Amino acid sequence: MTETPLYTALLEHQRKSRSSFHTPGHKSAPDALPEHLLSFDFTELPDTDSLYEAQGAILEAEQRAATVFGAARTLFSAGGCTLCLQTMLCLAAPCGGIILFDRILHRSVVNAMALLDITPVWILPRPTAGAGLPGRIESRDIEDALNRHPNAKAVFLTSPDYYGVLADIPAIAGVCQEKEVPLLVDNAHGTHLRFGTENLHPLSLGASATACSAHKTLPVLTGGAWLHLAEPSFVDEAKRAMALFGSTSPSYPIMASLDLARAWLEEKGHAAFSSLEQRVSAIRLLAEDLGFPSPLGLCDPTRLTLRTAQAGICGKDAAEQLRQMGVEPEYADDAQIVLIPTPFNSEEDFRRLEHGLKALHPQSPVTAAHPLPELPDYVLSPRQALLAPQETVSLSNSVGRIAAEAACPCPPGVPVVMPGEKITREIVDFLRRYGIFAMKVVK
Ligand SMILES: Cc1ncc(COP(=O)(O)O)c(C=O)c1O
Repeated sequence: MTETPLYTALLEHQRKSRSSFHTPGHKSAPDALPEHLLSFDFTELPDTDSLYEAQGAILEAEQRAATVFGAARTLFSAGGCTLCLQTMLCLAAPCGGIILFDRILHRSVVNAMALLDITPVWILPRPTAGAGLPGRIESRDIEDALNRHPNAKAVFLTSPDYYGVLADIPAIAGVCQEKEVPLLVDNAHGTHLRFGTENLHPLSLGASATACSAHKTLPVLTGGAWLHLAEPSFVDEAKRAMALFGSTSPSYPIMASLDLARAWLEEKGHAAFSSLEQRVSAIRLLAEDLGFPSPLGLCDPTRLTLRTAQAGICGKDAAEQLRQMGVEPEYADDAQIVLIPTPFNSEEDFRRLEHGLKALHPQSPVTAAHPLPELPDYVLSPRQALLAPQETVSLSNSVGRIAAEAACPCPPGVPVVMPGEKITREIVDFLRRYGIFAMKVVK
């Protein structure tokens, strides 16, 4: 065979046998997915139904998922949560318009704004989760913004965020219901939140629609996601909206894994996530003793975000040290490491992690967090900026130019500039401190 660089890299990575504390949620555990799933790589046939025209087995599988999650309608996606987010935004604002967005959002949402010509009105989180974390959007800020923008077509939130921090969905949903505006939630990281000791799933707490990246925390192949709809007016148009963005060749193994995961949740979900919560809680206590606190306030009880910087250990160094000890985290920035445990991690994985945490030690100095610069002026819409001709310039030459990309010191955090906003001297000084030295700008 000729060279196979990607296949070879994957093989080499697999040989390291690190304990996976990253997505996907199945962790390649032997009991997570049937081995013969690959042999189900079929296409649309009379027996296999068709995703966007579902009338048979896919429709029935979607209806069963809707029942389990308490949705009026659930749609399968083999194009990740990204496809669910595009569909959700299209249902709320098919011809553009204003939507209120929290500023902690995934780049797929910014891209969807451009595709749909949506104008964002930003709501900033309040720093209620502790140092180095974006924090939470509060219902009073949403109420104020809705009073200022009564023509807003929806409110859009990310909850939980990448760090597992949860917004107060019941309070925010209450405001949205009063103002008769749909609440859309990017629940990419919280698909499992209905299971466990408390039901924290945003759909159960009053959201009108949720986009759920099932593959992140459940036994689902990468790319499998659910769009749950509670808002009745979204239901009829949902398939048509999804078909605008999705591939006409959705993967059957991925869709089959969504169906299997739903069946697994029905049978074992509560017990599996309740016991995972206990295991995670024990690790949090250990981490706390070692000087690595977790975020403050309401959080996903299964996410491990450990603020190692509090003990003088840079999160990125901590992640590298854990890798050397056979543990692969999901993400690290200067302040913390993020680990995604699921019921498919073994006890051996958890022991390795505990062992690794105990061995962490300071290496390079921890960078102090700097206060965010003021929100810049908005000159072009995300659509105008993202679809315009662009060029990359050095950071110092970007002052006064219009950003063609979001810039964020730690990508899941709050971007200091978004596409279409004017780059200020203050923003440049801020980004330089985080090692960002070039920017894509509109030509
Ligand atoms: C908050 C958030 N939303 C959406 C997405 C996109 O999900 P997917 O990769 O399933 O398309 C991600 C991916 O990491 C994410 O972190």
